[in-house]
Amino acid sequence: MHVLSTLAPLALPVMALGAVLPAALQSSTKVKRDGWGGAVSLGPTTSDIIHAVTTIIPGTAPSTQNGELFLWPGMSNSTGDLIQTTLESWPSNAWCGATTGQWCVRASIFGSFGQLDGTGSPVSGDDHVQIVYNLESDGETWVQNVTNAKTGAALSSYSYPAGPYMTG
Ligand SMILES: *[C@@H]1O[C@H](CO)[C@@H](O)[C@H](O)[C@H]1NC(C)=O
Ligand SMILES: *[C@@H]1O[C@H](CO)[C@@H](O)[C@H](O)[C@H]1NC(C)=O
Repeated sequence: MHVLSTLAPLALPVMALGAVLPAALQSSTKVKRDGWGGAVSLGPTTSDIIHAVTTIIPGTAPSTQNGELFLWPGMSNSTGDLIQTTLESWPSNAWCGATTGQWCVRASIFGSFGQLDGTGSPVSGDDHVQIVYNLESDGETWVQNVTNAKTGAALSSYSYPAGPYMTG
C-alpha cells in the first residue's frame, strides 16, 4: 500500500490510517495492540482541519481470507463522528461489483447513530484512489469525495453535518 496525504494550510498533518488484517494474515511475531490492527497516527493537532486529501494505491486484495480487511484514513475530534472512507476486502466483494483481487471503496461516517454509507465501487490494486474530505462553507457539513485520480471517475461520495472541530 502506498499512501500520500496532503492537508489544507489551516491544518497540521493529522490523519489516522487504519488497517485490520484477518488473523490468518498476521505475522506471528506482530504484537496485536487493539482490535483494529496496524495504525499510523499523525495527530491530534491544536488546529481545526478543513480539508484533507489522501491517495491510496492499495495493491491487490487477498484472493481468499477468513475475515474482513479494511484500509482507511480516519478523521475525528475524538468525541464526535468519524469520517472514514474505507477500502474493504470481504470474503466476497461482489456487493460492490468487484471481482477477486479487487477492493470495494465507499465513503462513510460512523457516529452514535451507527454507520451511514455512500455507494460502493470496485477498485483494482494499481488504481490511485483519491479521497477528499472537505468542510463546506456552512462550517458543519463534511463532504467525502472519492475518485480515481488517473481517470477522474467518481467512486463514492457522502455528505454529513459532522461539525467543524476535526483535529486528528
Ligand atoms: C464533490 O463532488 C461533487 C460532485 O462531483 C462536486 O460537486 C463537489 O464540488 C465535490 N466537492 C469536493 C470538496 O471535492
Ligand atoms: C466534536 O464535534 C462535535 C460536533 O461538532 C461537538 O459536539 C463536540 O463537542 C466536539 N468534541 C470536541 C472534543 O471538540
